Amino acid sequence: MLRGGKVGLRARHEDDIPILRTELYDDVAGSSRAEGGPWRPISPGSNDPRLVVDETQQGSVPFSVVELDGGTLVGTATLWGIDTHNRAAHIGLGLLPAARGKGYGTDVVAVLCHYGFVVRGLQRLQIETLADNTAMLRSAERNGFVREGVLRSSSWVMGEFLDEVLLGLLAEEWKP
Ligand SMILES: CC(C)(COP(=O)(O)OP(=O)(O)OC[C@H]1O[C@@H](n2cnc3c(N)ncnc32)[C@H](O)[C@@H]1OP(=O)(O)O)[C@@H](O)C(=O)NCCC(=O)NCCS
Repeated sequence: MLRGGKVGLRARHEDDIPILRTELYDDVAGSSRAEGGPWRPISPGSNDPRLVVDETQQGSVPFSVVELDGGTLVGTATLWGIDTHNRAAHIGLGLLPAARGKGYGTDVVAVLCHYGFVVRGLQRLQIETLADNTAMLRSAERNGFVREGVLRSSSWVMGEFLDEVLLGLLAEEWKP
């Protein structure tokens, strides 16, 4: 397991799946904001890649996020779009509603940076998030990510086009 100050990132367990499906992916508005695509229901037993890990997909590494104190599941974190030529990847995370606003998001970003830069030897990490997602923007900026641009009206979310912000962090800028 990878450890931060408050949370750990471990492999996906079978018992995580119903909790993540119910608390994260059944939320139409929340999923529509976080997924970058249309919400669709996930059936119990489905092999949806957001829930069930496909070990053959080398370009993406999904983690379950747990509290270090007690091991309760609090969300998901992913290093995705891993490009081994340019040594770059994207990071994404989603916390269960009850786990938000406690500093866990900032900690998850820190642990994903450690995984990306130290374990995987990457040179650049990137985050795309909706321009009004203050908690995600702050979690990224607290870890040194800088805003590199605004993708105007790039996301169709529940009836309107919203801007996305692109943030990047280079290995040499990162302060663990
Ligand atoms: C975005 C998310 C991962 C952030 O994690 P979090 O644990 O809630 O954030 P933190 O508690 O670490 O807070 C980070 C900062 O945002 C601020 N913040 C937290 N929630 C906020 C809110 N609802 N509105 C405004 N600011 C907020 C905190 O005060 C903190 O600011 P600071 O660094 O200036 O002190 C989490 O809220 C989440 O899972 N949201 C839903 C899914 C999502 O949006 N995922 C990202 C898709 S790109």
